[in-house]
Amino acid sequence: MKNFISVSDLNEEDIYKLLIKAEYYRENDFSLAEQLFVANLFFEPSTRTKMSFTVAERKLGLEVLDFHSESSSVLKGETLYDTAKTFESIGANMLVIRHQSDDWSKELKNLSIPVINAGAGKADHPTQCMLDLLTIYQEYGTLDGLNIAIVGDIKHSRVARSNVCALQKLGAEVYLCAAPGFEDEELEVPYISLDQAVEICDVIMLLRIQHERHLHKAETSNYLDMYGLTKEREQRMKKHAIIMHPAPVNRGVEIDTDLVECSRSRIFKQMTNGVYVRMAIMMHLLEEWGTINENYFKEYQTFTAIK
Ligand code: CP
Repeated sequence: MKNFISVSDLNEEDIYKLLIKAEYYRENDFSLAEQLFVANLFFEPSTRTKMSFTVAERKLGLEVLDFHSESSSVLKGETLYDTAKTFESIGANMLVIRHQSDDWSKELKNLSIPVINAGAGKADHPTQCMLDLLTIYQEYGTLDGLNIAIVGDIKHSRVARSNVCALQKLGAEVYLCAAPGFEDEELEVPYISLDQAVEICDVIMLLRIQHERHLHKAETSNYLDMYGLTKEREQRMKKHAIIMHPAPVNRGVEIDTDLVECSRSRIFKQMTNGVYVRMAIMMHLLEEWGTINENYFKEYQTFTAIK
């Protein structure tokens, strides 16, 4: 793995190795000795992903090259490729990119530094997926055999696409729940109602309504009662089942605001895990490229030992 672009590029062993590595960084302080630069190139808004990459980078001792597209030469018409080549030329050792295009990574395949996808249009959000997997793994010690419902605006969600792909690879039974118009028939996953999902699922993973990707603003006044996680539906969840959401949350729309921090909610734990997962991914790529030569990470636990 030279770049971290899509969970479809990872096999089960790759995923578990990264999860174990993330757990290592959660439990151990670590900082690189040499000066290395990472550029965070965000062309779409972000709070969690950008800031947790920044924290992860600083924890690793990496120098962060912050970039604001709204005050950059993008305004003069510079392309993504030329922006990326510029950072490569001035000495960036790695690029973290979020962009509205589904397939922006295709034009950056031949850079001489690793590239990490921090969100690609509606297509993929692989680091969000990894932090979601870590959160579920911490809860259950496995993904295999769990019933997991992804609920909400499936059609416009890169999180849904990444998670369906990874969860199925890891042996989870995945279900989708969506209001009319929010389904995506390209995903080969059964649709059930949220009322069915709360009765059978170990994880209810809610999604934000992606208003910015809609042609017409969706009407949401009845959404919570009809399609969202109300307190009444939460009461019918399995005793051990957890609630997740990649955030930002439309409180009172996808989820009753009182449930956002309830005992079942792992929403803020997901954000915490984002730092460790991103540390693991960045270190893995720097090792793969030989940018760091020492074996900084203790011997991996073997794949079979952790299953
Ligand atoms: N979950 C997520 O990607 O949040 P941000 O858009 O704030 O990065």
